[in-house]
Amino acid sequence: MSGVLASGVEVRSGLVLDALPEWVECPLSLDAGEEWYIGPEVQEGHEAMPGSVLITPEEVSVALSGIAEAIDNRFPPKKLCIVGLSKGADCIQDELVPMIRARNTAYPLGNLTRRITASSYGLATTTSGKVRKEGDPGNVEGLDVVVLDDLIDTGLTIAGIRNWLLSRGANSVTAVTLLTKVGTLKVEEAALGKDPITGLRIPNKFVVGRGIDWGEEFRELDGIVGLDPTRKLIITGGGAV
Ligand code: IMP
Ligand code: MG
Repeated sequence: MSGVLASGVEVRSGLVLDALPEWVECPLSLDAGEEWYIGPEVQEGHEAMPGSVLITPEEVSVALSGIAEAIDNRFPPKKLCIVGLSKGADCIQDELVPMIRARNTAYPLGNLTRRITASSYGLATTTSGKVRKEGDPGNVEGLDVVVLDDLIDTGLTIAGIRNWLLSRGANSVTAVTLLTKVGTLKVEEAALGKDPITGLRIPNKFVVGRGIDWGEEFRELDGIVGLDPTRKLIITGGGAV
């Protein structure tokens, strides 16, 4: 599967993963027990090392504009409401909203910038299955709600939030994510709603960057990289699948 939006909009061609990426040593030497910190040095290291970034910053931007286009094509301005799942979706929501408004200023800004906090992971790299939510998305009655998250792994977060938004009277709730992991869904596809929109599909690896964190770290990376915190390794090669 190449980077194709569920809506059928092709966001990137030619980036097909033939084999799952290899795990390689992190270019920085880290002593056992040393705290993780990927600063500019490591980022520079990645840029200097071809293929070490799973999704390049440019590819993420192309995927985001594909998502903005798909949203604009599907939802009438007066009925659309975007509820971002903070903090993971903050970065992409901040990028998407101007892209959508650049296409059509009739989308009311206040409806595109709603947020609630949903957390399930903490420091773990597998889902706990429990979604904690805080905050108020405001009145969603009769609106076509886009529930925006950084990525879908098991689908439990979005499925849970989606049901909750439907119970608050939303007309429809569509899952929109930058990334979708392949083969990891633990809910029925229908639980994600009709035709979820996603930017890129990735292999089942733990990833960080562009707002996606591990224990509040690595959000600042512009591209998407894979990491294994237990082994302090960085994934190399790859791209969307
Ligand atoms: P799901 O409920 O299993 O679909 O997981 C969705 C949430 O888990 C996302 O909002 C992320 O915050 C977190 N998550 C899942 N996979 C990763 C990952 O690879 N890196 C960082 N966070 C992740
Ligand atoms: Mg999240």
